[in-house]
Amino acid sequence: MKISVIGAGYVGLVTGACLARLGNQVLLVDTDCGRVEAVRGKKASFYEEGLDELLASVELEASGDCRRMKESQLIFICVGTPCNHDGGMVLEQVAAAAHDISDVLRERDDYCVVVVKSTVPPGTTESIVIPILEKSGRRAGRDFGVCMAPEFLREGKAIYDFLNPMRLVIGERDRRSGDTLLELFSDFKAPLVRTNLRTAEMIKLAANVFLATKISYINEVGNICKKLDIDTYEVARVLGYDGRIGSQFLNAGLGFGGSCLPKDLRALIACARERGYEPHVLEEVLRLNEAQALKPVELLGKHIRLQGATVGLLSLAFKPETDDIRDSRAVAIAAALLNEGAAIKAYDPMAMGSFKKLFPQITYTMADDVLDSDAVIIVTEWPEFSRLDYRGRIVIDGRRVEKAREARIYEGVCW
Ligand code: NAD
Ligand code: UGA
Repeated sequence: MKISVIGAGYVGLVTGACLARLGNQVLLVDTDCGRVEAVRGKKASFYEEGLDELLASVELEASGDCRRMKESQLIFICVGTPCNHDGGMVLEQVAAAAHDISDVLRERDDYCVVVVKSTVPPGTTESIVIPILEKSGRRAGRDFGVCMAPEFLREGKAIYDFLNPMRLVIGERDRRSGDTLLELFSDFKAPLVRTNLRTAEMIKLAANVFLATKISYINEVGNICKKLDIDTYEVARVLGYDGRIGSQFLNAGLGFGGSCLPKDLRALIACARERGYEPHVLEEVLRLNEAQALKPVELLGKHIRLQGATVGLLSLAFKPETDDIRDSRAVAIAAALLNEGAAIKAYDPMAMGSFKKLFPQITYTMADDVLDSDAVIIVTEWPEFSRLDYRGRIVIDGRRVEKAREARIYEGVCW
């Protein structure tokens, strides 16, 4: 099929590259010239496992000009949906993409389907996207189709997750819209859910918010276990044997960061409040997660005087195998340490460049040199941290790196 993808970020670029690999003719459209150039040069502008190799093996067109979408049978919206100061999602990028598509629809007289893949609050496709598309003078359901197909990929495993989804969720404006989109996924084996647009939007938010809730739950159990001198990880391992609970997302520690779990949690809270419902459980999940990030600084204060000390950070990305620092726990920790008057040395296998733009005052160096600080905080569990020599050091471990227990003073956040 002929496909356009608006937004060449994590979701858009992976979607475009995977759909090209499946034999489709794909055009990526992005307002960021750097990202367009990167795709043309067959390189991703961020790290994602296997993505550069995939880009090198497929034909992908990239452009900053939306008018090139005029032959596409499917147009995916994969732009960003960050949150504003009160947690609500900023939908400007989605609206701008819809306006661009509307301009293209005005010039067309054939049928195509617009697919929202960005994560958006329930009701967005119906109340914002469709009215903008209809400014073209063409009618949704009659002249063009609309779907909302949320994406569930994880960064670091994005290509695998896209090609092997645990479920395919297709929110459809009408049957024809869904049927057209489904042609694309006819070879996929995943359970298929066909539903309406706003249910699909809610399914995505509810999934991320459940994962966030599970992490805050195990962190709460972990905080209690630490006071009782009980090993949280042993408790979590046994919890996982119960199929109703499941063993994943029970790693206690510093809590969740990244571009989506915190943002989508805030968005669902804001969405509930806007409708007069106070979501107490979700508010607590968020509050606990914010407090959890600062625990290592609190714990360290018991062992050393932070004012004038040098503290090492291992590492900076929001999780291993990515260079993404969006809402990383390292951001809150670095800000708190600097506020206490400490100096920071930091190492990350991939994310030092982007972190430097936020915190130019930090010394960026190699892992061994970071260990040569007054104390070290383990923020992200990169496999290579299991090969470092921690003997003689003071270590506060936020992610349960067993090898670090050899330190002179070792304390875990929840153990
Ligand atoms: P991103 O910020 O990495 O990429 C968004 C891209 O859209 C940027 O390159 C930006 O330049 C481009 N863009 C913005 N406005 C545009 C416009 N009007 N026209 C063309 N391009 C435009 O975002 P992302 O991480 O890929 O996330 C995209 C959406 O997918 C978000 O709603 C997010 O919540 C959701 N999501 C993300 C992930 C993930 O792992 N990152 C997973 C599932 C869902
Ligand atoms: C998450 C979801 O897992 C994806 O399904 C979803 O598509 C995506 O958000 C999205 O909507 O963007 P991702 O942000 O890549 O994926 O990261 P996760 O692997 O979910 O980890 C999120 C955070 O939770 C990380 O900071 C990680 O360290 C933390 N985490 C994870 C824990 O603290 N404990 C755990 O047991 C698991």
